[in-house]
Amino acid sequence: MELELVCRDGHRIPVRLNMVGVRDRQGAYQGYWATARDISAEKRLEAQLLQAQKLESLGTLVGGIAHDFNNMLTAILGYAQLLLGQANQEDRFYEHLQQIEVLSQRAADVVQQLLTFSREGTSRQRRLLLHPLLKEIGKLLQRMIPENIEVEMHLAAEDLAIEADPTQLQQVVMNLVVNARDAMPEGGQLRIETARVKLDESFCRAHPNLRPGDYVRLRVSDTGVGIPPDIQRRIFDPFFTTKEAGKGTGLGLPVVYGIVKNHGGAVEVESEVGRGTTIALYFPLVEKPAEVERASSAEVKGGSETILLVEDEPTVLELARAALEHYGYQVLTAQNGVEAIATYRDHGSEIALVILDVVMPKLGGRETFRELQRIDPGVKAILASGYDTSESLVNELLQSGVCGLVRKPYQIQELAQAVRQVLDQSMVEDRKEALTKNKTPHPPHPFFGLI
Ligand SMILES: Nc1ncnc2c1ncn2[C@@H]1O[C@H](COP(=O)(O)OP(=O)(O)O)[C@@H](O)[C@H]1O
Ligand SMILES: [Mg+2]
Repeated sequence: MELELVCRDGHRIPVRLNMVGVRDRQGAYQGYWATARDISAEKRLEAQLLQAQKLESLGTLVGGIAHDFNNMLTAILGYAQLLLGQANQEDRFYEHLQQIEVLSQRAADVVQQLLTFSREGTSRQRRLLLHPLLKEIGKLLQRMIPENIEVEMHLAAEDLAIEADPTQLQQVVMNLVVNARDAMPEGGQLRIETARVKLDESFCRAHPNLRPGDYVRLRVSDTGVGIPPDIQRRIFDPFFTTKEAGKGTGLGLPVVYGIVKNHGGAVEVESEVGRGTTIALYFPLVEKPAEVERASSAEVKGGSETILLVEDEPTVLELARAALEHYGYQVLTAQNGVEAIATYRDHGSEIALVILDVVMPKLGGRETFRELQRIDPGVKAILASGYDTSESLVNELLQSGVCGLVRKPYQIQELAQAVRQVLDQSMVEDRKEALTKNKTPHPPHPFFGLI
């Protein structure tokens, strides 16, 4: 028989009760022997297994739908861009076409996240050391986390290697950190730790895709509001959010789950209301890479130039800004093309480079760039595109004088590298121009294929 014991302090323990009646020599009933076994561990494993199975079937369903939507949206976006290329800005329907482009881009972004959850997304994994990457992210956090939250990093003494896609790993940590931040509106502690752990049979029983062995555990903990048990069961469901509209999408944890699964790992949640939450990720430990890539931040040169960053998505804006500031740049920001033009009018002489999102409401990246060229024919710009941009669009952009293109989501080092490359190249060009005193044609444009 299974039942719950209520302890004096009010907390409940599930137990399995075994009872045997005891009789005396004459066979008269005297009472019973009972043993109660604490089965909380068993119950927890059972719940985790159920959760894993639920997410598995949800993933298959969502993956199938997202796949079809992905194809349809690619076509819608493609046709919209085709029409935009043929239309004039003065046309009455021009703005409507832009709206179609912006909205289908948004929908495509959501679909991309769903594909990540269902593990249908693409991933570029390689052997890498975890700590340099975390340190890099750690530096950015200082700028993204309010001052009333204390950020601590406790990294294991030894360097730990895993097989991973660095961009996805960055996204995973960011999603967890943002959740931790949101859980501590009054401030608190945010802790990121790593450890080498051995997982045994019983742990792996709850996570069907894990084999016993050596793993890297990456934990993100907060001292925030915590997650009530009934909600805990749903936090990995796509679109489940307790945040007000506009603040949460409910895709953060599903994406974390999908990525970690895709890396042969597992996610565990521990939370207590009013105390805080710990999310633990497990990745299979691998041999250290033969050739240790030196932490890329040391390699990528920064600078002190002023950059105008134009991006309508607040989280991307926040991240890119933090990254660029980290590399020493002065950053001005604008949330749309109209704002960007106003800022450029005021600060054009200081701005060395503009980073423009291709698809934005009001005035898209291309139109904004054209407008900026009108103000300053020598304007340098990198365009950032969030979705499979068509070949013809890329060519069109490069021919119009854009210095480079980055694919979103970008990895911070790669963005910094692209920025430096364009800035250095334009310095050489300026010098050349000064020497020859006549305008040389633009050099071949770099295309940064960052995914
Ligand atoms: N660290 C945390 N502390 C408290 N609640 C959390 C934490 N992380 C996630 N949650 C809960 O899980 C829900 C889903 O999280 P997520 O998938 O990232 O979507 P979103 O953050 O957009 O709501 C959140 O709305 C919140 O209720
Ligand atoms: Mg979130």
